[in-house]
Amino acid sequence: MAERIPESLQKKIEARLRYHEDLGIRLFYRERSAAARNPEESAAAALSMPPSPIPVIEESSLPKSAPQPKLGPEKTSAALRDILPPPTGPSLFEAVDKLKDDTLLKIREDIGDCTRCKLHKGRHKIVFGDGNPKAELVFIGEGPGADEDMQGLPFVGRAGKLLTQMIEAMGLQRKDVYICNVVKCRPPENRAPEPDEVTTCSPYLLRQIDVIQPKVIVCLGAVAAKTLLETTRGISQFRGEWLQWRGRKLMATYHPAYLLRNPNAKGEVWKDLQKVMAELGLQVPKKTKS
Ligand code: URA
Repeated sequence: MAERIPESLQKKIEARLRYHEDLGIRLFYRERSAAARNPEESAAAALSMPPSPIPVIEESSLPKSAPQPKLGPEKTSAALRDILPPPTGPSLFEAVDKLKDDTLLKIREDIGDCTRCKLHKGRHKIVFGDGNPKAELVFIGEGPGADEDMQGLPFVGRAGKLLTQMIEAMGLQRKDVYICNVVKCRPPENRAPEPDEVTTCSPYLLRQIDVIQPKVIVCLGAVAAKTLLETTRGISQFRGEWLQWRGRKLMATYHPAYLLRNPNAKGEVWKDLQKVMAELGLQVPKKTKS
């Protein structure tokens, strides 16, 4: 008789599979089987990728093969409206009034030594956010990992190093942009933040964005995108498309942690970042010889 998996483990596996599916990893399997059927077509698709200046970080412990996210035909904004219907029920964000004379310092003070959700139990440091308080470009991740939790700064681990390289490939530095997360405390074992944690922490994220007033928001990964857009749709359905969010331009792209596992997707992300650069009037920097 087949052995039963303990319920807690089953739940964890289900959550992880859902998370992977949201990140578009399901495509990986589809693509691999498609490649087996038509290897020439797959190779041609891979070659048509634009060269990406985002360097490949060797990950010996990670799978060497990578998904080739499918590029659908360019979606129109009308199509996008279909993809992202207005949220049903009360919005996470509508209830949060814009505070007069709000500042990042006030927001940090309001968060205080937060115990509002269960994430506080395992955290070392609250990871509020970092960068230019007047940035035109804000990157929003999911939640702190182990390195961020120890240092109190966002995106300073392996995924963070890749994000830094992505920012530099855009001709910017970390200090030019603002980087923060949906939740400010590390979820245990780097699991995705749970809905109650997102609901508790989101008002602070919203206040941060309202204070910074960026021209462009880039959501890194499914959690940030789904939280802001209040959608359950998978990120691969709207990744790389310009969306409107509370009067600002928003683009969702893959999370750098996903790129560490799937370096071939860097070309897609670089295309997304080039759209962001165009919007901000940034030129692709010329490569300097080292
Ligand atoms: N991943 C995130 O989403 N945020 C961080 O700060 C680090 C890793």
